[in-house]
Amino acid sequence: MKLIVANWKMNPDTVEEAREIASRIEQGVLGQERRNVETVICPPFVFIPVLRHVLHFAKLGSQDISAEARGAYTGQISARQLQEFGVKFAIVGHSERRLLGEDDKQINRKIKNALACSVEPILCVGYGSNKKSSIATVKKIIKKQLQADLKDIDLRKSKVTITYEPLWVIGTGKPASLAHCAEIKEFISEIVPGKRVIYGGSLDGQNAGAYAKAGLEGGLVGGASLKADEFLNIIKAFSN
Ligand code: PGA
Repeated sequence: MKLIVANWKMNPDTVEEAREIASRIEQGVLGQERRNVETVICPPFVFIPVLRHVLHFAKLGSQDISAEARGAYTGQISARQLQEFGVKFAIVGHSERRLLGEDDKQINRKIKNALACSVEPILCVGYGSNKKSSIATVKKIIKKQLQADLKDIDLRKSKVTITYEPLWVIGTGKPASLAHCAEIKEFISEIVPGKRVIYGGSLDGQNAGAYAKAGLEGGLVGGASLKADEFLNIIKAFSN
């Protein structure tokens, strides 16, 4: 099963817009004949209670999750609270959060909390590499992140999706090359066999098909996920 994730980041501004985009995606996904793609929408936390009543075939995800189970942690949202609102997936370790100082130890605890509440983590790796990095350096960074982020987690019993995010292409409209992504996908699969590996970075309706053909098992979509038609084209490309 492929996975396409909408990461809305801090968009849109209003609940009406969120409802409108989500309804159009839900309608489109319902209309697709092939059902070999799971679709997840990760809105800002505040829209989750509303979108929960809009999404049925498409699933609800969060953009982050607390490393703590409960208690005095101002501003955080726990895995248990997300579970309460029908959240099935959580993005963990996105580069934009690592940039704010989130480290591998916290990410590891977030993943454990998510799994304990039956929320599937979508772990992002690749932060720290840049376009000048050699492929050997990118692999070294990813290996270190995977080992630390998934430490003491029984992967045979845990559903986890890995996203390769080449940081330097996010939001640029210029995705990383197919050959590069295919090689990194293989590399990740050697370290965490049997886990779904998806790609994130400037995916759109035009280029998504090539990534599907290159063996990527889905995508994490930022900008293009706020345009329902564009996002539906990405889903279609991966279901072919
Ligand atoms: P983008 O974001 O699709 O806007 O490049 C992708 C991501 O955040 O991983």
